[in-house]
Amino acid sequence: MKAAVLNGMDQELVVRDDVTLTDLGPGEVHVKLVSSGVCHSDVSAQNGTIPMPLPLVLGHEGAGVVLEVGPGVTDVVAGDHVILSFVPACRKCGPCERGQSYLCAQSGAVSAAPHFVVDGTPIPGMTGLGTFAEELITAESCVVKVENDIPLDIVSLIGCGVTTGVGAAINTAGVTPGSSVVVFGCGGVGISAIQGARIAGAAEILAVDMVDSKLEQAKTFGATHVCKPDDLPQLRTEITGGEGFDFALECIGNPITIRATFDAARRGGTACIVGVGRLTEQVSFSAFELFYSDKNLRGSMYGSANVRTFMPKLLRLWKAGKLDLESMITRRIQLEDINDAFTAMQAGQVIRSVIDYK
Ligand code: APR
Ligand code: ZN
Repeated sequence: MKAAVLNGMDQELVVRDDVTLTDLGPGEVHVKLVSSGVCHSDVSAQNGTIPMPLPLVLGHEGAGVVLEVGPGVTDVVAGDHVILSFVPACRKCGPCERGQSYLCAQSGAVSAAPHFVVDGTPIPGMTGLGTFAEELITAESCVVKVENDIPLDIVSLIGCGVTTGVGAAINTAGVTPGSSVVVFGCGGVGISAIQGARIAGAAEILAVDMVDSKLEQAKTFGATHVCKPDDLPQLRTEITGGEGFDFALECIGNPITIRATFDAARRGGTACIVGVGRLTEQVSFSAFELFYSDKNLRGSMYGSANVRTFMPKLLRLWKAGKLDLESMITRRIQLEDINDAFTAMQAGQVIRSVIDYK
């Protein structure tokens, strides 16, 4: 089958047609991919922002159909449609038991398990998935069953970007009705955060991006105001009277915009860091301001979402017309176009590219 392999840092992905899968083991599920979104974290794995063991089949935002299940699997059967969750939800570890499956302790082991075979060598898929492949094997804990009548391209976006962004606004930041919100970055994650803030009833939602077309698109998803980074002080005064925003969400992963997000929140407000920055980069705060600002500075992993309850909720919001997923797909590609899709994403030309597998 075809799969896109990252052999070394900063290299182009190599799309091969001779990749196979390991035998299906206990507790594992064999899935035929129907769709995969292309997320910035895939680019971050390629450029080393997020360190990953290489070689690796990239892709962590996908949906498909179960072909076969291994011994002991009870959640799904062949023919079921599933969202692939890039963090497992094992239901047994400490974090899962206390209702924080997005921190599941199985995550490391699931990510390291090699299920693809390339040139006779077993290699893993990104985050235990590897959705840039026609088929994959993953742990039962990484699949969430969905109704068979929902289009799987829509479903794939829920696998990362939408859960991450909507979840950050609703679960992590806890955006409240009538509040003011600023979102930095209008890619798949930021647009989802904007939609989450709208769903939560924010009165004002300011979208900040450096690309004009992104700002125009942000308006159609619920941003009430938009601006380039340089115009933020003016908009902050206009919208909040200079006090700062109730909620500020960073959906880029850049130390400068992370710092700007903290600064954009009002005293007593919430700054929520959704973007994944480079392991070696630092953000600094004065010892005094952390105390004096009384801000809630939060990291947000996978939208602080318990995938088995939150993903179905997102699909109900979509069915009710309250979450626009169709318009987020701005480019449809084949697996062979993956390197072009990376380039387009880095140029700020897409909200989401989605790979259609035949
Ligand atoms: N100032 C303003 N906007 C910026 C800046 C900046 N300095 N740098 C990038 N942007 C904008 C881009 O123009 C783009 O619209 O941020 C957006 C980022 O979107 P994508 O590249 O599509 O990334 P996305 O998939 O949304 O992921 C965003 O969340 O999950 C993490 O790893 C992911 O860190 C990444 C972040
Ligand atoms: Zn992602």
